[in-house]
Order: sequence, then structure tokens, then C-alpha cells
Amino acid sequence: MPGRFDATLSLTIFNVNIASAIFDCSAPDLDSCPDESLPEFAFIGRSNVGKSSLLNMLAGQEGLARVSPTPGFTKLINMFTINKTWRLVDLPGYGYAHLAKKHSAKFNKAVARYLKHRPNLCCVFALIDSGLEPQAMDVEFIEWLAANSVPFVLVFTKTDKISVTDVQANIAAFKERIAAWFVQPPTSFTCSAELGQGRQELLGVIDESLTAIQAEADAAMQGAGPEPAREMSARERHKKRPDLARPW
Ligand code: GTP
Ligand code: MG
Repeated sequence: MPGRFDATLSLTIFNVNIASAIFDCSAPDLDSCPDESLPEFAFIGRSNVGKSSLLNMLAGQEGLARVSPTPGFTKLINMFTINKTWRLVDLPGYGYAHLAKKHSAKFNKAVARYLKHRPNLCCVFALIDSGLEPQAMDVEFIEWLAANSVPFVLVFTKTDKISVTDVQANIAAFKERIAAWFVQPPTSFTCSAELGQGRQELLGVIDESLTAIQAEADAAMQGAGPEPAREMSARERHKKRPDLARPW
């Protein structure tokens, strides 16, 4: 998993078994976010796709992030510190048409700046509703992530809501829609916060990333340079670099 975290900043032994999950702060914009010393993993996707629910499921703590059936509920960059050593970040969703345009633009600008410029952002979980056929806004958003070299994996949510066959068909159609943008298709997962499905796999993504950071930190401590990346970077995976405006 390519990340942008400076490994030399972190000499902590990580543990992906979640022993503690604590609300840290709500930031209205990038400049208000806490220090950059901890690796971060963020949840993004359309309003109501299940970002806050998935964060709670991974943290194993219902009610940690606030969940609501009302789209546009999460309005700030909400940070949660896990095991005192890394963070989960609940972001406001995009595509909530009913939100006042002025507010909507403000939230989106803050999220875009966070995604583009947060140096300790290791991986973004880009959530897509598995119950829907590909939505233009989601397709464009994934293109935007790729165009801006934001490291991400796809997570198809709410798999409990429709049949396995329909979930698979929607996922295949979505992948087909974004295929042209990638040399290597993005890694993808399915999940259901309702059933607790997908938790181990997504914690595995975090574990892999934290382990890589630790290895780089160890190598830096021993005076060696960081190991050469074994995977293609987000930048390399992306074929074209259109000058995409924020699409959402
Ligand atoms: P915003 O903060 O508004 O952007 O939404 P969000 O993406 O954080 O979604 P949230 O987690 O608040 O969930 C929205 C609604 O979807 C709530 O009613 C949840 O109970 C429901 N929901 C979330 N995940 C699942 C799931 O896996 N299965 C089902 N059936 N419902 C889910
Ligand atoms: Mg939310």
C-alpha cells in the first residue's frame, strides 16, 4: 500500500488488534487537524454510504462515530485515535444535494484539501454502495482520487441489502467503468457494517500499511534507506492525469 507517511517520524510498535478507540477531535478544515505524527486511515464516499458505520465496525465500538439515516450527517473531519498510535478519520460525504450550496462547497473544499495534502494519510477507504449500479458521481470521485495520487482501496458497502448476485453485478459494472484509469485495478473489498462482514480484511489493509511504516522506521534507525517500494505507487497505477476539477 503506497503511503505518504514519513516513517522516520514513527518509531512505535503498532498493533492492529484494537485495544482502545478514542474520539480525538472534529476539525472543520485541514489547518485545524491535529499534528501529523500518527498514521491516518480515512473513510470517504457519498453521504449515507455507511462511512461512520464502517468506522464503528472496524473500531469495534458502536456509537463511536455518529450514525444517522439522514444523508449529510457527518459535517466535520472527525478523528479517532486507535491504540494511541494511529487514527481512523471519518470524513463528510459528498453528493448531498439538499445541503445548502454554500456549506456543501465549504465541506468539500476541506475534504479535498485533507485528501490531497495530509502527509500522514496512509490509505483512504473509498466507499461505494454495493446496492446501486455505478453512479456517475462515484466514478468521477474515484477518477479524482487517482488523478491526485491519493492512495485508496475500494470498499463496497451494505452487502446485506441485496442478493450476492446483484452485489457482484454492481461491483463488476463499477470496476468496468473505472478500468481505463488504472494500469492495475484498485484493490477492492466488500463489507456489511450490519453483519460485521469484511472487518478482518479491512483491518488487514491497515495492518499491512502499519507494518510497512514500522519496517521503514526500523531501516531508518539502522542507517539504511527505506526499502524500495514493492508495489506500484498510486501515481504509477494511474495512466492519465487529466486536470480534473473537484467533481463532487
Ligand atoms: P453521512 O455522514 O451522512 O455522509 O453518512 P455515512 O456515510 O457516515 O453513513 P452512516 O454510517 O451514517 O449510515 C447511513 C445509514 O446507513 C444509517 O441508517 C445506517 O444504519 C445505514 N447503514 C450503514 N451501514 C450499513 C450496512 O452495512 N447495512 C445496512 N443495511 N445499513 C447500513
Ligand atoms: Mg457519517
